[in-house]
Formats: sequence, structure tokens, C-alpha cells
Amino acid sequence: MRFVCRFMAACAGLLMLVLGSAGAQDYPTRPITLIVPFAAGGPTDVVSRIVAEHMSRTLGQQIVIENVVGAGGTTASTRAMRANPDGYTLITGHMGTHAASVALYPNLAYNPATDFEPIGMIAGTPVLILAKKDFPPKDLKEFVAYVKANADKLNMAHAGVGSVSFTTCLLLNSILGVKPTTIPYNGTGPAMNALVGGQVDYMCDQIVNVVPQVQAGTIKAYAIGTPERNPALPDVPTAKEAGLPQFEASAWNALFAPKGTPKPVIDKISAALDKALDDEVTRKRLLDLGSELPGKAKRGPQALAELVKSEIARWTPVIKAAGPLN
Ligand code: MLT
Repeated sequence: MRFVCRFMAACAGLLMLVLGSAGAQDYPTRPITLIVPFAAGGPTDVVSRIVAEHMSRTLGQQIVIENVVGAGGTTASTRAMRANPDGYTLITGHMGTHAASVALYPNLAYNPATDFEPIGMIAGTPVLILAKKDFPPKDLKEFVAYVKANADKLNMAHAGVGSVSFTTCLLLNSILGVKPTTIPYNGTGPAMNALVGGQVDYMCDQIVNVVPQVQAGTIKAYAIGTPERNPALPDVPTAKEAGLPQFEASAWNALFAPKGTPKPVIDKISAALDKALDDEVTRKRLLDLGSELPGKAKRGPQALAELVKSEIARWTPVIKAAGPLN
């Protein structure tokens, strides 16, 4: 009797495998939903739409963007984790949702390193220190002195606890030893509108959302958190050049699927992303916005799995050192 059961179980497993790979062969047979954990128009939305456009052509099915906001992106990430692992629901996660949130949410509903199938990095997105156009300081040194002297009167915008803008400005504020009033938005798309409008004083944001505003002269950019200047903003100094070497801040956006999504399906989506990142037009659109495009070694599921682990290890002590959030 036990032999019959084992034989049946093996048959069932084999059948699933065959069906899975057969299903993968036809994948996709209908549109794919790509969840973006922040408001439309922000950096994660923009890079997602740029690669999704090319990937849709490769996969032969439309990739539909669904903006799901809340809790610094963890609401959307929880929804994506619980979605059917059939390849038709994906999410663009980033340094916040899939690394910093671990230390910021003790009861986080998901484990970024184990509850998702990593697909691949879309792009690195360096982070800048920004302020409204008429903010008095003219350079980073003056910014540091001014914020230290006036923190209790200042409003800092961010995209929710756990977001990149929240986490990187948490690093900045802990370096400066200040705790300004923080104003959450559903993404740095709307936060940037508030900065341009002068409703808030300063924020930290990913370069993709910053380049158009700096080029239009609607905000001030004091420094970038990467070792080198960015070709899209050659006049913006590095934080190190400008006298704040401790502000090392760069983010990334990447594609993930729910845990259990069949490997052949993951491989197909990852190959489509790889093709998009090799496409001249797609590359130019991302590079013009200051993105850092991953070389072949940094692409694909394995490289992303390693990045998630190393970024959790990178940001957890920073967040712990910053102390209680309020
Ligand atoms: C966005 O797209 O709004 C950002 O990625 C939010 C953030 O993490 O700062």
C-alpha cells in the first residue's frame, strides 16, 4: 500500500513538472500585472514603465502597471507575496521594500529574501539631497549648518516608512543629529510636487525623479550619495566632495514574483528584462534619467538574490543606529 502511495505521489509531482513546463512554454497567454508600490510618476513607476514597454513586445502580452500605495511600499509587497505564483503578477521592489523594511517593520508580513522569486535588477538609482528652490543654503556645507540650526522648524518629505526617500534621509538626519517633522506621501512623485511647490523644505530622492526638476531649475540638489558624480547631473557634487562623506546612499529597483512561480516562467521574464536592458532606446531612456544599468554579472535572479541579502545587512545597522523613529 505504502509503495502505491509513493508511486502516485511521484506521478503527481512529475505531472506538475510537465504541466508547469508545458504551461511555461505557452506563457504568457494573457496580460501580466506589474505592481508598483508607489504613486504614478515617481522613480519606481518610471523605470518600471520603461522596461515594461520593451518586455511586453518580447513576451507578446501587455504588462499592465498597477500602482498600489501605502506603508512605504510594504502594502503592495505583501499583496504581491500572496498573489498566485503563476507569472501573471509581478512587483517592482527596491532597496526600501526588499531590504530596509526588514529593520523598520518588526512585524513585516514578508521576508524579502525568502518569500519572493527574484527575477532581476532593473537599474541602480543613486540618491540625492534636495531642497525647495528658495531654501537659503547655497551648498551642502551651508545646508548642514542650516538644518542643524533650524531642524525643529523644517518639514522633510518622504514616501512612507520603509521607502528609499525615508531610509536615506533617516541616514542623513542621523549623521546631522536632527529630527525634523517628516511628511509622508504615497510616493516621491507627489512628494516632489510638494517640494517644487515649496510646501516642504527638503528630501532625499532617487535620481530618476530628480533630473527633470534640476534641469528645469525648480529645486536645489546639494549632493549625490555615490562615489562618483552622475553623467546626467555633472554639476552636482558627490557628498564626499561636498564635505559629508558619511552620506553614502544609492538605491535600486528590481523585478520579483511570488514564491513558487515556476522557474521556466521566471527564466522567460528574466530573459525579456535582459533583452530590454540591451535595447539601445530603452538604455538611453534610463541613462538620460541618471539610472545606473547593471552589467551582465549583476543581472538575473541569482545576482538579485545576493543583492537583497547584502542590502538587508547594509541598511539594518544604519536604521538601528538612527534610534527610535519619533
Ligand atoms: C517612488 O517611486 O515613489 C519611490 O521609489 C519611493 C521611495 O522609495 O522613496
